[in-house]
Order: sequence, then structure tokens, then C-alpha cells
Amino acid sequence: MATAANPEPADASGIRARCLTGIEGLDNILGGGIPRGNMVLIAGSVGTGKTTLCLEFLVRGAEKGERTVFFSVTEASAKLIENLSTFEFFRQDLVKAGGLIFIDVPGIYDQLGLNHEELTLEEIDLLLKTFLDLAREAGAQRVVLDSLTSVCYRIRRDERIRDFMLKLSQGLAALGCTTLLVSEIGQSAGRYSLHGVEEAIVDGVLLLGNARRQGDILRILQVVKMRGTSHSRAQYVIELTPIGLLMAPHLKGGRQET
Ligand SMILES: Nc1ncnc2c1ncn2[C@@H]1O[C@H](COP(=O)(O)OP(=O)(O)O)[C@@H](O)[C@H]1O
Ligand SMILES: [Mg+2]
Repeated sequence: MATAANPEPADASGIRARCLTGIEGLDNILGGGIPRGNMVLIAGSVGTGKTTLCLEFLVRGAEKGERTVFFSVTEASAKLIENLSTFEFFRQDLVKAGGLIFIDVPGIYDQLGLNHEELTLEEIDLLLKTFLDLAREAGAQRVVLDSLTSVCYRIRRDERIRDFMLKLSQGLAALGCTTLLVSEIGQSAGRYSLHGVEEAIVDGVLLLGNARRQGDILRILQVVKMRGTSHSRAQYVIELTPIGLLMAPHLKGGRQET
């Protein structure tokens, strides 16, 4: 049983409990899901499927009776929910029942009066406390922040981003949350986050991207890092279908690329 001080610890054999993402191919690569309590960066350029993957992760949790929270910074959640209606996997009833909670971060900025373009130390602490309080009140076991990049844009300084993320990670892990943080990067970025400090702090990095094959642009997913489990680092082709994200090995010249 998870407690605030000791969230979902390792079992007697030392194996950490897993959070099934519900995305079958991904759970297989990870050997049974994300180690519970991990904070994972979902990095990729625009249109690679970051938001869709994160939402499916929450929906699959909510379907099993977990409480889940989506902190939306870049898109108004009402619009997001409207766009999602074409995805069969997205279930409005989970939102109505309170299993999937959407929170608009710009609304939090307004309520807290965080109006400096670059947040002060006190404002950063207040924002952090508010995120953790809301996750606690919701009893959240899965949390998504879409996107971390937009929040970091207002924190700006590397050492403050590092401190914010360490406290967020510790706070959410203590609540027993498994967390996905969206990181928006350019097509040719040599790293997985805007400042570079973000990827060093998180427990895992999933990279989404594009690959060209015979005139098509394929969507690609790769597990770059995941603390607490061994995993393949191969590239997989993903398809965003109405029933959810489907994955297949990325074949190159008839052979799987590794
Ligand atoms: N409601 C939808 N129905 C079908 N396909 C969608 C829908 N929303 C997004 N997509 C497809 O998924 C792609 C990626 O969307 P998204 O997850 O928002 O990417 P990202 O968050 O990485 O920018 C879109 O470019 C589109 O092709
Ligand atoms: Mg998005």
C-alpha cells in the first residue's frame, strides 16, 4: 500500500510497482509500464503526438479507477476536449465522473496574480505549491503537464528550473503520482528540452519524432531513458488511431533499426 512517505515502494524482490500506460507496445518495451512515481519527459516537435499520448495515458488510468489530472498550459482545455471527440478512446464520462480532471494553468496564473513575465522566486514557490495541492486534492495517481516548456519559459533561469523540477518530482512522487511532462523541442534539436537541465532531472525521456520512408513521413517513438527498468532504445513507428496509439518496430531496409 502506498503512503505519502513511501509511494509504491519496491516489493520484497526489489522490483518497483509499475504504472501501465495502457499503450500496449510501450508497456512491452518498458517491461510492464513506467516505474511508479517516475517523472517522464515526453519530448518532440510540434505535431508528433505528445498531447495525444499523454491523454491516452490518463484515460487508460481513469478507466481502471485511478484519479488523473491534466494541467494544460498551451491549449484551453475546453477546446482540447472538443478536438478529442474524434478519438474513440477519449471518454467524456471519465471527465464527468471526476476520474480525469482538466486544469487550465493560465487560470492559476490569474488566480494567484502571477503576472510577471519572468516569475519571481516567491511566485515559483507559489506555483509549485499550487500544483502539488491540486494533485493532492484530486488524489491523483497520474499527472500530465502540457507543457513543461511553457512553464519553464516563465521560470527562465537554469538553476531555478532545476530547483522547481526537483521539488515537483519529489512532491508528486510522495503523492504516489506517475507524471508525464511535455517538452516542446525543434525538429533538429540536439537535446530533449529547452534548457537541457530538464532532461537531466527527470527519471525518463520518451522521444517522439518524424522519419521519412519512401516519400511518407512516419511518426516515431523511442524510449531514450527510463530509471528503474531495462528497455529497448529502438525506434518504433507509431500511429495515432481513433482507438489509441498503435506501435510497430521501425523497419529500415527490411530490418529493424536499433
Ligand atoms: N482529434 C483528432 N483526431 C484525429 N487525429 C488527430 C486529432 N488530434 C490530433 N490528431 C493528429 O495527431 C497529430 C498530433 O497531435 P498532438 O498530439 O496534438 O501533437 P503534439 O502535442 O505533439 O503537437 C495531429 O497533427 C493530427 O494529425
Ligand atoms: Mg501538444
